[in-house]
Amino acid sequence: MENPSGQVLVIFGASGDLAKRKLLPALFALHCGGFLPENFAIIGAGRTAMDSEEYRRSRAEDIKKFARASAADFGKLGPFMELVNYVSFDTDNPSEYSRLAGFAAEVRARAGIPDNITFYFGVPPEMFSPIASGLEKCGLSASSGGFRRVVVEKPFGTSLESARAINAKLRSVFDEGEIYRIDHYLGKETVQNILVLRFANEIFESLWNRDHIDSVEISVSESLGVENRGAYYEKSGALRDMVQNHLLNLAAFVAMECPSSFGAESIRDEVAKVLECLRPMDAKAIDSGTVRGQYAASGGMAAYRSEKNVAADSLTETFAALKFHIENWRWGGVPFYLYTGKRLSERKSEVVINFKSAPVQMFVGQCSGRSCNKLTLRIQPDEGVWLKFGLKVPGAGYEVAQVSMDFNYSSISGANLPDAYERLLLDAMSGDATLYARSDALEAGWKFIDPILARWAERGADGLEFYAAGSDGPEGARKMRLEHSSEGCPIRFSASAKGGDESRKE
Ligand code: BG6
Repeated sequence: MENPSGQVLVIFGASGDLAKRKLLPALFALHCGGFLPENFAIIGAGRTAMDSEEYRRSRAEDIKKFARASAADFGKLGPFMELVNYVSFDTDNPSEYSRLAGFAAEVRARAGIPDNITFYFGVPPEMFSPIASGLEKCGLSASSGGFRRVVVEKPFGTSLESARAINAKLRSVFDEGEIYRIDHYLGKETVQNILVLRFANEIFESLWNRDHIDSVEISVSESLGVENRGAYYEKSGALRDMVQNHLLNLAAFVAMECPSSFGAESIRDEVAKVLECLRPMDAKAIDSGTVRGQYAASGGMAAYRSEKNVAADSLTETFAALKFHIENWRWGGVPFYLYTGKRLSERKSEVVINFKSAPVQMFVGQCSGRSCNKLTLRIQPDEGVWLKFGLKVPGAGYEVAQVSMDFNYSSISGANLPDAYERLLLDAMSGDATLYARSDALEAGWKFIDPILARWAERGADGLEFYAAGSDGPEGARKMRLEHSSEGCPIRFSASAKGGDESRKE
C-alpha cells in the first residue's frame, strides 16, 4: 500500500482526551511503521492555552503511556514530535479561523506540503457546524488543486433530526465524498475479519442464512464505568453511545450481502441496505424486546448516580439490550440480540452465531432441541474465532462431548493487532472511506433507534432495572439470554444411539 500524499492533519479538540489517548499514539505508531506521508505535519487546535513546545512535551509523555510501540520505537519519538504543532483555538471565535489559515499556510510552506488538508473534528457534535462554517468563511474548507477531507467523531447527533441537520451543514461546506464519519469499531482488525471470514470461505457463507442460523448475538461488555464522562453520558446513555453506532454496524457486517467489490461504495451500499431493512419496533415490541439498566453500587464500586456530573435521580441507561429483526430474504425470522453495558463483570466483545439444531436428535440428551453449534467471533480481548460442535467420546457407546476448534490471533507469531485509530486515520489520509459510515446508513440507524428512545423516555423510571456494578447486568437481560443461549446444555453429556443400549442413558 502506498503512503498517503503529502498533507497537513488539523486536529480540533487537540487538548482533549481522544487526542491524548488515541489520535497522537496512533499517529506515532503509523510513523514508526513508516506509513505517514513523506511531507506531513500535524496541527493540533485546542482550547487549552499552551505553545507547540509545551504540547509536544506533554503529548510525548502520553505517547509513551498509550502507543502500541516497542522500546526501540521510542527512539523515533523526537523526529515524530517535530511534525507536531499546536495552536490555542476557540472554535466559537470567527477571527480565530483566519489565524488558523495563516498558521496552516506557514506550516505547509516550511515543510513543502501541497494544499492538502485533512481536518479531524474530535469535538462534541454541537461544535461540528460552527467549525464547518468557520472553515468556510476563512476559505480553508476549499483547496486550490489539492484536497480537503473532514473526519467527524461520534456521536453523530443525538437523534435522526439532529443527525440530518449535521449532515446538511457538513454537506453545505464539503462534498459527501470528503466527509468521513468515524466508528472506531470498524477500524478493529477483528471486525474487518468478519467480512473476510464470511466472503473468503465457502463453508461459512453457505450456512449464513435463515435456513441454518437460529439467532445472532452481539455483545459489547465493559468493566469500566463512565469514568470522567458523566456530563456527556447523561445526555447519551448506552443506546446512543454504543448501540446506534458500534453494535448496529457490527450487525450490518454480520448480516450484509457480499458486495460486488471490496470498494468503499459497494461495501457501504450493502451496510446501508441492512440498516434500511431493520424492522421498526412499536411500543409493544419495545416493551417486550428491550432491556435497560443502570449500575448500582456494589463491591466498593460507586453507583452510576454517584458518579461525577451525574444527576442523583438520573434515568440514563448504562446497559441496553434489544431483540430485533432484519426483514430481508436472508434473515427473515432470525432474531438478532444486542447487549451492551458498563460496569459489568468483564470486558468482552463478541459476535455469536447460534446454528439450528440437527433435524433429528440422534443422541439422548442432545441439548434438548437447541444446537450446541456456535461460531464465536471474539472482537476483544483474546481476539479469535471458535467453532463449537459435538464429538463422540472415544470408547464404547455414543457419549457426546461438546468440543471447540479455536483460532486465537495471539497464535500467529508476531501478530500485534494495530489499534483501530491507526487504520482509520491512515484510511482517511489516503482517501479510503470503506470503513467510515455513510449518511444514509447512519440515518437508517437513527430511524430505528429514535422510537426506542422515545418509548423509554415516555416510560421514565418504569422499566429501568438496576444491576449491581461488576455483575452480568440486569435480570431482564439474563431472561433474554435464555431465549437463545445453549448455556443450559450440558457441556459434556452421556447419550446412547437411538435404539441403542437404553441402559447407557443418563
Ligand atoms: C466509545 C464509547 O465509542 O466506545 C465509550 O463512547 C466506550 O463509552 C468505547 O467505552 C468502547 O470502545 P472500546 O474500543 O474500548 O471497546
